Amino acid sequence: MDTENAAIHYLDNAATSWPKPEAVYRAMDRFSREIGGSPGRSAHRRSIAAARIVLEARENTARLLGVSDPMRVVFTKNATEALNLAILGLLSPGDHAVTSSIEHNSVMRPLRFLEENGVEITAVRCSPQGELDPADVAAALRKNTRAVFLTHASNVAGAILPIAEIGRITRERGVVLGIDAAQTAGAVPLSAEEAGIDLLAFTGHKSMFGPQGTGGLFIGTGLESRLHPLLRGGTGSRSEHEEQPDFLPDKFESGTPNTVGLAGLAAGTGFLLEQGVETIRRHEEILTGAFLDGLRSIPGITVYGPLAAARRIPVVALNVKDLSPAEAALALDERFGILTRPGLHCAPAAHRVLGTFPGGAVRFAFGFFNTADDVTAALEALQELAGCKT
Ligand code: ALA
Repeated sequence: MDTENAAIHYLDNAATSWPKPEAVYRAMDRFSREIGGSPGRSAHRRSIAAARIVLEARENTARLLGVSDPMRVVFTKNATEALNLAILGLLSPGDHAVTSSIEHNSVMRPLRFLEENGVEITAVRCSPQGELDPADVAAALRKNTRAVFLTHASNVAGAILPIAEIGRITRERGVVLGIDAAQTAGAVPLSAEEAGIDLLAFTGHKSMFGPQGTGGLFIGTGLESRLHPLLRGGTGSRSEHEEQPDFLPDKFESGTPNTVGLAGLAAGTGFLLEQGVETIRRHEEILTGAFLDGLRSIPGITVYGPLAAARRIPVVALNVKDLSPAEAALALDERFGILTRPGLHCAPAAHRVLGTFPGGAVRFAFGFFNTADDVTAALEALQELAGCKT
């Protein structure tokens, strides 16, 4: 670590995780220098080596997310693209869809776009701490409800939503359940198939430890025929046809993939499978609990979201006395080397739920490579900031 990084407490892991496991940097460097072929496009050794890397990323991701057939994992450039593929594909004018009042814009914006085009949307209200009652989701279902789209955990409140309970309801009612797992894939143990999830969007660059530009969608049995590719083009398969292949994953993976990124994702998910997501979750819950405990003894700090660390991901949004979130985050960075994210976090709905719209909040987001020292540094800095301005 260089001198600049030695003084840094990186607490912005909900935006993107840093650092990555060493194996991720090595895998990307190795692909770039020693492999460099296009997967599935040629039959030479470098192309085959590249295809093996893509397959490894797909197999690891499937194992991590509790998906039995890796071909049901299609890669996209991020969770937003995966959510657009799912949401825009599934819903047509006259359909009704249910979501929560705490969603990120990656769910809200495609839904609001569809609402302007004849799809009815119900956003079920979360509690002021950002928690969702499955009974309220059940009550919102109608005859024409095609799908329920929900985040697994809020990127602002941190609240983990009761997905497995909601999965039981949607299965019973024959409604598709689509989950935004951007904040939880790799951080919170979850088996998509056991939880009754039909579509699950993930990003590679947060808790899955891949680089930015990786992500994807798990597509449950039968749903591939109901979704339309966002892009059509070369897939390296069935090149004799001018029409898009209709099989997975090729139907949704046109164009040369981000193989260097997927090499990183293969290594990141390999690291997670070795460590076990339970181990990651335990560590992050301990850090979050210690941070929440410490915050209780600092007057002038307002904390949002569930009180118990067990009910949230390692994300804590707060405000410091009368400092604006931008002022607080700037001071944390410049004076203490603490990197956070202020503002609305691309989730104005979540801030409305918490009562922090339009001002926003400062978000502290811990990751697997943070330690108790990072928590102590954050608490000491907040103590000083809370005392510095009345
Ligand atoms: N959606 C990401 C965040 O919450 C980028 O910061």
